[in-house]
Amino acid sequence: MTKVRNVVKEVCFLLFQVVKYLPPSDQCLRIGNWFRVLIARGVASHVGKGVVIEMGCHFHRDLVIGDYSGIGIRCKILGPVTLGRYVMMGPEVVIHTQNHRHDRVDVPMCQQGFEEARPVLIDDDVWLCERAIILPGVRIGRGSIIGAGAVVSKDVPAFSVVAGNPASVVKSRGMVTVNARGIQVVQARTRR
Ligand SMILES: CC(C)(COP(=O)(O)OP(=O)(O)OC[C@H]1O[C@@H](n2cnc3c(N)ncnc32)[C@H](O)[C@@H]1OP(=O)(O)O)[C@@H](O)C(=O)NCCC(=O)NCCS
Repeated sequence: MTKVRNVVKEVCFLLFQVVKYLPPSDQCLRIGNWFRVLIARGVASHVGKGVVIEMGCHFHRDLVIGDYSGIGIRCKILGPVTLGRYVMMGPEVVIHTQNHRHDRVDVPMCQQGFEEARPVLIDDDVWLCERAIILPGVRIGRGSIIGAGAVVSKDVPAFSVVAGNPASVVKSRGMVTVNARGIQVVQARTRR
């Protein structure tokens, strides 16, 4: 059974290499998105409802896409990545989960193989702006914005706006507090 499933996944992966070049999701009656989502369901671990998968993107089978999330034009998602719900992604975002080994100097790096993959977790309602790069093992907290061109090497707290290389917090959208009943409450940032 696992063998059959693996073959189906491989066939879907091959098919995706074709349908990924259909028109962007807002053109031609959204037919490109319809085909990409259909085939992606046979490749990825999970594709939720209301998902948008843009043209030219690339991802692996251990991807989880939550409901109403999107993968942007020409984005690359490499390895085990979980996108929560309502995740928004600009064009050419790259998410890495694995580095080449580079601890030895007597062996060329291209012959040292790979480090173990470190999954990336993007929480709900995150916006990854154009050309953001997310490095292995990072968790991006709920409601955060990753600015255009940011290189994120460390975890990002919820409701932060981060930018730059290496990315750092430039402002906060709000904060999470716990009320008297022990329930988490999100408070918007007070305007200056
Ligand atoms: C991240 C972003 C959304 C933040 O917008 P914002 O909340 O209006 O932020 P501000 O303009 O108030 O910027 C706050 C500070 O961060 C800096 N900053 C903002 N975005 C930055 C970026 N991408 N890289 C480096 N610095 C950035 C600003 O210069 C400013 O610095 P200062 O406080 O020293 O003046 C926006 O700057 C951005 O990157 N937009 C790109 C949108 C995009 O990629 N769209 C594609 C379609 S999804």
